[in-house]
Amino acid sequence: MNSHRIAVIPGDGIGPEVIAQGIKVLNHIAALDGKLQFEFTYYPWGCEFYSKHGRMMDDDGLDQLSQHEAIYLGAVGYPGVPDHISLWELLLKIRKGFDQYVNLRPITLLEGAPCSLKEVTREGIDMLVIRENSEGEYAGAGDWLFKGKPEEVVLQTGVFSRMGTERIIRYSYETARRLGRSLTSISKANALNYSMVFWDQVFEEVGREYPDVPTSSYLVDAASMFFVREPERFEVVVTSNLFGDILTDLGAALVGGLGLAAGANINPERKYPSMFEPIHGSAPDIAGRGIANPLAAVWSASQLLDFLGYEHHGRSVLKAIETVMTDGKVFTPDMGGRASTEQVGNAVVEALHALQPIHSPWKG
Ligand code: NAD
Ligand code: IPM
Ligand code: MN
Repeated sequence: MNSHRIAVIPGDGIGPEVIAQGIKVLNHIAALDGKLQFEFTYYPWGCEFYSKHGRMMDDDGLDQLSQHEAIYLGAVGYPGVPDHISLWELLLKIRKGFDQYVNLRPITLLEGAPCSLKEVTREGIDMLVIRENSEGEYAGAGDWLFKGKPEEVVLQTGVFSRMGTERIIRYSYETARRLGRSLTSISKANALNYSMVFWDQVFEEVGREYPDVPTSSYLVDAASMFFVREPERFEVVVTSNLFGDILTDLGAALVGGLGLAAGANINPERKYPSMFEPIHGSAPDIAGRGIANPLAAVWSASQLLDFLGYEHHGRSVLKAIETVMTDGKVFTPDMGGRASTEQVGNAVVEALHALQPIHSPWKG
């Protein structure tokens, strides 16, 4: 039996609602496999925990999480706790504490997904956005001077280290080479005259080691336009932390919405656990109504399966999502349907059972 220890942080708002469906899918995959099992440990951290204990996670939270191979997270942040506290003390603390410097966000139009673009071919949207996830605009460095005075000045410093920039760009070249795809860098050197000039320079320098990988480079404003007008231009995309954050919500809108967009926060060296989560937030506007789309969380579960080495199961989960959207047409309201979160989760499980023969001890 192959057993995997997974930490589960359902978090806030719709987080617990969608994670419950992802866990259900993972448990069914384990049952269908027959030789695979997950040991889930739940952590009740988040904004409710904060209101009771005055902190977002246990003081030794990272130590507790480090006992696991991976983390499966719903969403963090809810009205009542300032976002800069809730996110910096839980989500960003984990990403940084575990040096999850690669954020893999596939922007792929699955079969059956509602596409908001009219003039695009289905094959036209298939990109993998690789977002730098440890520094840049999210370095947390800055200052707030002369608070409340007329001369008040606020600084938010982007930090782009040689090591941090080189490693994400190298990872992206390696990924593009492995996939046989082109690599596009998205930056903004015309205005950001230190950080992005450096970024572009590193992109070019590292690129010399990958003459076989076709490359292109865009300014982020023009790239946003081309994401919508000609998404087929992009295959593997590497970009900074903040640009990656924004571009992937935009990208999500092209391929079915935030309810269907997943992200993996990876520590490639596997020194620390990696974390899998939908890219959406806690959606306070629909939380508690049982109508959140669980497919992003289910797709993250598929990424988790890939990460653990079960790519065939990861693919089955994606296939099941496609079946739900094509045959079943079981959609939550964000995709134009009337199904509940649970009904969509159940439909994924049913599709999985139809895809894979039940494991039989007699057949090995
Ligand atoms: P959001 O992603 O929570 O919601 C944006 C819009 O998309 C809302 O209208 C919401 O209803 C909809 N939406 C999102 N996920 C959905 C789903 N699965 N099914 C159906 N509809 C869905 O972004 P926001 O409203 O800007 O942020 C809310 C809170 O979440 C804030 O506290 C923010 O900081 C936090 N946040 C957390 C994460 C994270 O934990 N990774 C990500 C983004 C935002
Ligand atoms: C995301 C979120 C986070 C980010 C926030 C909640 C800090 O928007 O995962 O995309 O900006 O990385
Ligand atoms: Mn975001």
